[in-house]
Amino acid sequence: MIEKQNSNITISEVKKQQQYMQKMKAFLWDWEQKTGQKQSYFVLTTGCQMNAHDSEKLAGMLETMGYVKSPTEENADFVIYNTCCIRENAEEKVYGRLGRLKYYKKQNKNMKIALCGCMTQQDVVIEKLQKSYKFIDIVFGTFNLYKLPELLYHSMQTEGTLFDIWKEAGEIVEDIPTMYQSAFQASVNVTYGCENFCSYCIVPYVRGKERSRKPEDILHEVEQLAQNGIKEIMLLGQNVNSYGKNLEHPLSFAKLLQKINQVEGIERIRFMTSHPKDLSDELIETIKNCKKVCNYIHLPIQSGSSEILKRMNRRYTKEQYLELVQKLKNAIPDITISTDIIVGFPGETEQDFQETLDVIRQVKYCTAFTFIYSKRTGTPAAKMEQQVPEEVVKDRFNRLLQVLNPIVEEVHQKQVGTIANVLVEEVSKQNSAILTGRMENNILVHFEGNKDCIGKILPIKITDNKTFYVIGERIG
Ligand code: 5AD
Ligand code: SF4
Repeated sequence: MIEKQNSNITISEVKKQQQYMQKMKAFLWDWEQKTGQKQSYFVLTTGCQMNAHDSEKLAGMLETMGYVKSPTEENADFVIYNTCCIRENAEEKVYGRLGRLKYYKKQNKNMKIALCGCMTQQDVVIEKLQKSYKFIDIVFGTFNLYKLPELLYHSMQTEGTLFDIWKEAGEIVEDIPTMYQSAFQASVNVTYGCENFCSYCIVPYVRGKERSRKPEDILHEVEQLAQNGIKEIMLLGQNVNSYGKNLEHPLSFAKLLQKINQVEGIERIRFMTSHPKDLSDELIETIKNCKKVCNYIHLPIQSGSSEILKRMNRRYTKEQYLELVQKLKNAIPDITISTDIIVGFPGETEQDFQETLDVIRQVKYCTAFTFIYSKRTGTPAAKMEQQVPEEVVKDRFNRLLQVLNPIVEEVHQKQVGTIANVLVEEVSKQNSAILTGRMENNILVHFEGNKDCIGKILPIKITDNKTFYVIGERIG
């Protein structure tokens, strides 16, 4: 077992991983000679886009080693779960699937299993794994994802579970091989970690303090993506608005966007998440003036009650949030806004909840991700008194959707009759004659077409509204 340690990552450390990838390649080649089969991998991702992008890096490293992707979990030689712990049900889902995985491993003795991501950064989880999940081969965390080749290689030589969890982040590791899921859309990290410490949130404890990537590294990655045909990029960070403050040569997020806006070949730039407390006028001007930066913003409110916001440690009031929204709408009249809302934070009264409904009615969100408050051990909110009874929370949650859905429909209805540029993403899962894509403002569009259109930006006339998406017709 490898003890918890603090990291000091150097270039040679990165080279070391490249060497381990080569060693694994040789190992897998030998295996193929003996068995006539390549070893396969399966990555399960839970949680946010940050995790989804981390999984692209895991897959990239595995494919560099010579693994091939397995369509099913049960037949894979290496299964890795990249986990989330933001709410309790995300963790329960993983424990449930691990139970099934144990059964698959009994059928396939060669199967290796790894667990990584946010869940494994918690001591309570490690204790549970040590006690009851001994069939897992490798457990690592969010700060040392890049070490997968080394851990896998060691695990091939040893029995038992290999634990490698770091307490805090080392330097940012660049140039990890990445298997992008899409040929035309890609995520790019701009910051890692979060130090806002919203009182309900576990992220600062499992993702560490905020670190910004150097602008030249980000630009280099975006340029390479553009050269490989990527049209839309999503810049990722827990709070992109505070990007660049701790760099050796500080640079604002707005300035970073302006630089990325100049990269030839990139047609759309999105970003998430924006913390309202750090949204600058410079950023609003940049969204307005940079052609490629989409007129869409994800701006989590969490609660409409200034009292609850204070106890959530969000550092803005209802009035400040609404002012910010007004500023955005004044500067960019066709902007769409989405949000995150938590229902049932400790001490939330009916009056507090009504304030949240009031914000929804005033802002008119195009989408809202709505969550029931989940108590996370180790966060300040977990110790707060007056946890709201479950039936009250459920009732509020349902009432929230009843207010929200007609508003989402209203925002979508406004699109009817307009002509929008739609980046075509995929064939609809329900109907193979239908394609789905997104307008610049992130609204989902369904229209008839064939799959050759996937990856193209097409003009589409919006003809109808279906609450959570709109219907369109191709006009060019
Ligand atoms: N309970 C419920 N929702 C939460 N979120 C973060 N922590 C919790 C929690 N403990 C939500 C917030 C955040 C989104 C990513 O997840 O709304 O913006
Ligand atoms: Fe969590 Fe708040 Fe950081 Fe978002 S800004 S990740 S909600 S602590």
